[in-house]
Amino acid sequence: MCGIVGYVGEQSALDVVISGLRRLEYRGYDSAGVALVTADGLATDKRAGKLINLEESLDRTPLPAATTGMGHTRWATHGGPTDRNAHPHVDCTGKLAVIHNGIIENFSKLRLGLETNGHDFSSETDTESVAHLLEDAYAAAGGNLAQAMRDVCKQLVGAFTLVAVHSDSPECVVGARRNSPLVVGRGVGENFLASDVSAFISFTRNAVELGQDQVVEITRDGISVTTFDGAPAETNEYEVTWDAAAAEKGGFEHFMLKEIAEQPKAVADTLLGRVGVDGKLTLDEMRLSDEELREVDKIIVIACGTAYNAGMIAKYAIEHWTRIPVEVELASEFRYRDPIVDPQTLVIAISQSGETMDTLMALRHAREQRARVLAICNTNGSTIPRESDAVLYTHAGPEIAVASTKAFLTQIVAAYLVGLYLAQVRGNKYGDEIAAILTDLRDMPEKIERVLETMEPVRKLASTLKDKTSVLFLGRHVGFPVALEGALKLKELAYMHAEGFAAGELKHGPIALVEAGTPVFVTIPSPRGRSVVHDKVVSNVEEVRARGAYTILIAEEGDESINSAADFIIRIPACPTLMQPLLATVPLQVFACEMATVKGFDVDQPRNLAKSVTVE
Ligand code: F6R
Repeated sequence: MCGIVGYVGEQSALDVVISGLRRLEYRGYDSAGVALVTADGLATDKRAGKLINLEESLDRTPLPAATTGMGHTRWATHGGPTDRNAHPHVDCTGKLAVIHNGIIENFSKLRLGLETNGHDFSSETDTESVAHLLEDAYAAAGGNLAQAMRDVCKQLVGAFTLVAVHSDSPECVVGARRNSPLVVGRGVGENFLASDVSAFISFTRNAVELGQDQVVEITRDGISVTTFDGAPAETNEYEVTWDAAAAEKGGFEHFMLKEIAEQPKAVADTLLGRVGVDGKLTLDEMRLSDEELREVDKIIVIACGTAYNAGMIAKYAIEHWTRIPVEVELASEFRYRDPIVDPQTLVIAISQSGETMDTLMALRHAREQRARVLAICNTNGSTIPRESDAVLYTHAGPEIAVASTKAFLTQIVAAYLVGLYLAQVRGNKYGDEIAAILTDLRDMPEKIERVLETMEPVRKLASTLKDKTSVLFLGRHVGFPVALEGALKLKELAYMHAEGFAAGELKHGPIALVEAGTPVFVTIPSPRGRSVVHDKVVSNVEEVRARGAYTILIAEEGDESINSAADFIIRIPACPTLMQPLLATVPLQVFACEMATVKGFDVDQPRNLAKSVTVE
């Protein structure tokens, strides 16, 4: 949603903060700002637009040197993306500044009270109320910024990460979190606060996880964490397993291209170490007992966006392997429909960031109903796995591009592992059957690599189709969620009208959208598997072709039966039906990325979006 960095140390705080903001810009990019505690007091600058606008402003009018500071990159919620609404927000004394990620739900009431007491506001944001509350609390706490933060947090309703500095407390930065991420980086003679570790990974790999409702104070040599009530809090310190290079483009033009290319490795890493010496699947982080898993009589997958599409694919596999009914639900809808959930329900929450508020709220609702919750997540120590009963981490490495790619493939793999594990524990499948599926999974990185090697014609296709106004995506069985994902990628990156449909459903209405030249992507199931599905999809292709569609078929190598129905063929290696999404999605990612490039759009930071959506 928004990116936050705080720093105290010996280096130039501005340099550290700006380098952190560059890494966090994927979280929000409609304005950015910094506050430094200098020898002459507080110095700030903030600008609407991307970080580069702020950097240019700082070049034109440099701020005085400082070794304590903080910065923010914003995805607007309250108040449009203007210079005034950009963070930091400063109190009436001009000595205190605050930055914020999240939403303060009771801000209008707070603002009214503060204005009545004589505070002047200069923005339309919810955050500015916090600056003025901190101003009063700082005075009441005798100049203790951490105490002021604790006092203020208790008055706030909503989700927030807050970081504040005060020019009368020049050697410290104070942060707080509730339902929104904040992690501490422990350095030597310097310490960091950030929305995620990528902001400080070039300086330190030692991170300290903060819990819910905690306040942290960092100085050059110390990190002190308390609850909102001031009691010392336990923290979990860990070493980040990836390095700065993983959070950089590494020669690729865009992060998205890099992340697409990393998919073979991401899938291989997610499979690594999952089989024990006895040949059985072992999921280390699975904190649910075999007995608990045997009791499960229903699975509900909750997720948003791309993660939801991964859940839709997982449903086919998990039901097939375990015979447990699986529902897949948009997290934002889940708790508002009074879902039927009980202690025998296993809720699987899928989230790349582990911070998506809709998913977090849905999982809390599930836990209140005493369901067991298993998280599939890519971000170590984030809120969703921390609040779940069990977790299976995807090992995709940092995903920086806003459009999710490698996380999607690894979410499918992780959900498949959960399905196989359930089948193993419950005896739905023999060991050799599970081993055979694991072998199929282990073959996928090499096959994804082969798909990636043949993407040039797909790139050219994007140029050919750049003036089309609408693109359709079709598939059946696991090909249906692939179609949804293909359409989502094209919408978010190329701002084109794109829809994914179940191929058989088209004739019940959406086929009216097809006109002469409408591009229609279709994933063709393997003719070797349940060939009846293959033949039905080919019939659906003929139906759209008869109405003038330009058909682009993603089909298995050697399936020549589709040639006459295709205007354009994308070949993928043969694989079992359930593995096909891991291959068929890749050309759709490449197509969307290329289409955005051809149209001159920002591939890594599409308009109106942010990487992790920490508001409901
Ligand atoms: C699309 C995309 C989003 C996310 C969704 C959930 O490319 O990235 O649809 O998949 O916002 O995010 P996480 O997985 O972080 O919960």
